[in-house]
Amino acid sequence: MATATTPQAAGIIGAAVPRIDGPVKTTGTALYAVDHDFPGLAHAVAVQSTVGSGRIRKLDASAAEQIPGVLLIFHHGNMEKVYRLFPHQDDATTSEARPPFEDDKIYYWGQYVALVVAETLEQATAAAEAVRAEYDAETPNVSADLETGFTGQRHSSWKRGDPDKALAEAPVVIDETYITPVETHNPMEMHGTVAVWDGDNVTLYESSQGVVNHRIVMAEVLGVPRENVRVISRFIGSGFGGKLFPWPQSTMAAVAARKLNRPVKLSLDRRMMFSNVGHRPLTEQRIRLGATADGRLTAVRHDFLNHTSMLDDIVERCGEQTPFIYSCPNLEVSSGLARRNVGTPTPMRGPGAVPGLFALESAMDELAVKLKMDPLELRIKNDAERDEGTNLPFSSRHLKECFTTGAEKIGWKQRTPEPGSMRRNGKVIGWGLAGASWGAARIPCTATVELCPNGRICVRCATQDIGTGTYTIFAQVMHAKTGVPMDRIDVLLGDSSLPDGPTSGGSMATSAVLPAATNAVNSAITRLMNIATLTQNSPFYGAKPETLTLIDGRIHMKEAEQAGVRRMALTSDDAPAVRPPAGGIPFEELISLARLSGITATGRTFPSFEDPKAKAYSLHSFGAHFAEVEWEPEIARLRVSRIFSIFDCGRIINLKAGANQILGAAVMGVGMTLLEETRYEKRTGQPINGSFADYLVATCADLPELDVTFLDYPDLIVNEYGARGVGEIGMAGVAPAITAAVYHATGIRVRELPVRIEDLLQSKIVEV
Ligand code: MOS
Repeated sequence: MATATTPQAAGIIGAAVPRIDGPVKTTGTALYAVDHDFPGLAHAVAVQSTVGSGRIRKLDASAAEQIPGVLLIFHHGNMEKVYRLFPHQDDATTSEARPPFEDDKIYYWGQYVALVVAETLEQATAAAEAVRAEYDAETPNVSADLETGFTGQRHSSWKRGDPDKALAEAPVVIDETYITPVETHNPMEMHGTVAVWDGDNVTLYESSQGVVNHRIVMAEVLGVPRENVRVISRFIGSGFGGKLFPWPQSTMAAVAARKLNRPVKLSLDRRMMFSNVGHRPLTEQRIRLGATADGRLTAVRHDFLNHTSMLDDIVERCGEQTPFIYSCPNLEVSSGLARRNVGTPTPMRGPGAVPGLFALESAMDELAVKLKMDPLELRIKNDAERDEGTNLPFSSRHLKECFTTGAEKIGWKQRTPEPGSMRRNGKVIGWGLAGASWGAARIPCTATVELCPNGRICVRCATQDIGTGTYTIFAQVMHAKTGVPMDRIDVLLGDSSLPDGPTSGGSMATSAVLPAATNAVNSAITRLMNIATLTQNSPFYGAKPETLTLIDGRIHMKEAEQAGVRRMALTSDDAPAVRPPAGGIPFEELISLARLSGITATGRTFPSFEDPKAKAYSLHSFGAHFAEVEWEPEIARLRVSRIFSIFDCGRIINLKAGANQILGAAVMGVGMTLLEETRYEKRTGQPINGSFADYLVATCADLPELDVTFLDYPDLIVNEYGARGVGEIGMAGVAPAITAAVYHATGIRVRELPVRIEDLLQSKIVEV
């Protein structure tokens, strides 16, 4: 990378630093999971169920076996033994508990029923099509109506005061239900595995957000010791939560490769991404708010249901932010699961918070309308000074300032509250706002730093960069502490054989890796200085280590000490034999003088959940989105024209990568609000819009002007840099800000996403 524009040394923390992995990605030399090729590699193709519920009556692979090049066909009748992961295992998480081909039961459309492995992809594809499955099919339950006929348990997760009594007594009440549809993760890179066995050891090339977790799960599933499994995921074409935990294709590839004693590659195609590797579940959320006539919240009830698969209990924690985002004495959050014949849901960017805040913040906007109060004023009036859920002080909370800054940016003072009352350039415009929050934590991490004899620094950690800039964060810390140029820093991530690092999830990787990286490089520098003073032919021999410093990768006497050493040299026998050069010496020269192979040190991150100081605080990021829409009633055209996003995520370590996270999240938020919805066909349970042609994601043409502001208050409870993490929070609050703007423009309140033109045709604002 270019170093000319790189801010030097400590100034690099917080600067807009280009990704150090940018060149290998843009030149196509970065290898993604299924790019890996090996001599003798065989190709696997999965066969999927064409019914959404029932059992396999007969599976006939005889025709498929006759196809030239076919090496192996696995199905429930001949699958090798694989194991389940204990569902409550505390050091690893999987996605679908049921191993592939465990029995003849079908729980969702697209479930894998067979795996064909052949010499070439074409042969495997042809043979997969020749596998004949007959089913005793039942009608799948893919109903999008969760509430009607709900018989499951409801769990109360938060309760304080007496919300029902407060609601009964409240002068102003809102009671509405909000629905968010199934959304599918659509990373550019699809899930895929290349499995390579060497004796009893297996290496899995994966697209994983957590190579350490993936290794533990696969060791359990395959029934081999953990040290026999290595998971490599050096580059990832995004994950958005869909790649947090292993999916069945990893098991299928590993078992086939073991059986054949050949490397096996298995990649999903885009359609499979809609059925076999998770989704954000459907949510139905009833929000009840009670308030005084002057707009103080007296009661909040947030009761939600989400769908889950037949075999896994996945709660989309929609109420997570509800207990603390605003102040309210009486509150309850409850949840319930409705089983459907769908694949297992999984976290998707901002799980819980994104659908949850759509409901809560929409209800807040409705409350403001009912109170005839400015929605901004309503938020500020109900700002919480401490976390009323946990009753802890916030480590750092600036939500109010996010709102006031956003109001300033969009010019909120000019807003007239009446729907359809604002016009510009022949269009109706609408403005809406919403708040956002997301948790922070310092999760464990280990990293090693090596000062190498060739003048480079190598840092190693088994976390991974899912496209968010983790490689660059490590390099920034190394550069800040040593002054060694960025192009002489090597960062090795995405390999479970490296020191254990965190899963890239929950927007917590940055706050986890910073302390480990810093502690490791600080220890390496301390060792370097000790060696400098203990090595006889070193110019610093006999000096005190604390009198030395590392500047631009060179060991110097500290300024004040330099004169003293010179005086000492004239008078003392113990003085350094060689006068330290004024310009210092490169660290690699000392390594060579000391005849070392390098200097390596390890650093660890002490987790916040074991730290009494951190546990005394509620750790959360905050933010606000202000959205503008343009409505052209004559042609029923709605566009999002501007979004201002103001975020309080602690200190931002890389302004470029950090802003990029919020921008990307806002783009996904626009998709969620206006376009995205996975629909299941009623008779078969098939996701019928499972392709990029039919499932619309926001493209550049759908996007407004986006404007990101960070408040940049360091949160020193979380780590020494004050970084909390930034990513998922950017998607929270986008949808309710846009739907509030839609209401302001059209007078139509959309409570079920996505917003459809059919909804807006009901608008009474018929001309500009
Ligand atoms: Mo995030 S949904 O934890 O990748």
